[in-house]
Amino acid sequence: MTRLFVGQNRYNLDHVDSTNSWASRLLLENPPADGTVLWSRSQSQGRGQRGNQWHSNPLQNLTFSVIFYPRFLAVSRQFALSQVVSLAIHDFLQHKVAEPIWIKWPNDILVDRRKIAGILLENSLKGNFLESLIAGIGLNVNQAEFLGLPHATSMKLESGVNFQLEEVLNDLCGHLEKRYLQLRAGDYAGIADAYHNVLFQKDQWSNYRVHGDVLHARIREVENSGRLLLERNNGGLVSCDLKEVEFFL
Ligand code: BTN
Repeated sequence: MTRLFVGQNRYNLDHVDSTNSWASRLLLENPPADGTVLWSRSQSQGRGQRGNQWHSNPLQNLTFSVIFYPRFLAVSRQFALSQVVSLAIHDFLQHKVAEPIWIKWPNDILVDRRKIAGILLENSLKGNFLESLIAGIGLNVNQAEFLGLPHATSMKLESGVNFQLEEVLNDLCGHLEKRYLQLRAGDYAGIADAYHNVLFQKDQWSNYRVHGDVLHARIREVENSGRLLLERNNGGLVSCDLKEVEFFL
């Protein structure tokens, strides 16, 4: 895949606290080129969503962050960034693993019901537009055991193949670039369609924990704002943000 800018500029480290924290320091000190990749072979304080930690065996998996400047994007459209980053990982994995890959709202990547990758997006705004984005990606590549994490999986567990980390990273950068350019071209509808096509449990009746109560509902859509729209069995609609809803895996 030909690439224009994602990963053209790349910094590699053996060890860092968190590639996202490294990226925010760099943005303050000396902002690097658009599409710069910060890759570390291990992290001591990998950060996940909702303040969780991200544990990843050193040298076996990919932990990296990409810096973008999506200054063309209105704040009201910022959820599209979450969609393009998850779609890029989805597109890449669907070539490597036979089982279907799903995006669990907002941006967890699952193989069947098992989590294979996580994304932590951190952005800064200027007026009504985005200024910068740190897209932190943790992809389980060659790790074969996940003690205490029954719902985790890796590319190796799903395919039986050992992957070369740098090749995976380069390939993934190509997919990130393709989806990011789709966004830069303003194809919000195409991105939203692709996202909904691979959205985990879309239209399927299932249980969710909403505001602490168990709700039997089905996912109708994810709104442009990024809110999840659930339909109850009486037809009523419930719109939730990240803090308000939990899935049962
Ligand atoms: C999640 O909770 O699912 C998101 C996990 C994101 C982990 C990645 S690893 C590279 C980057 N640096 C971090 O500290 N976190 C992200």
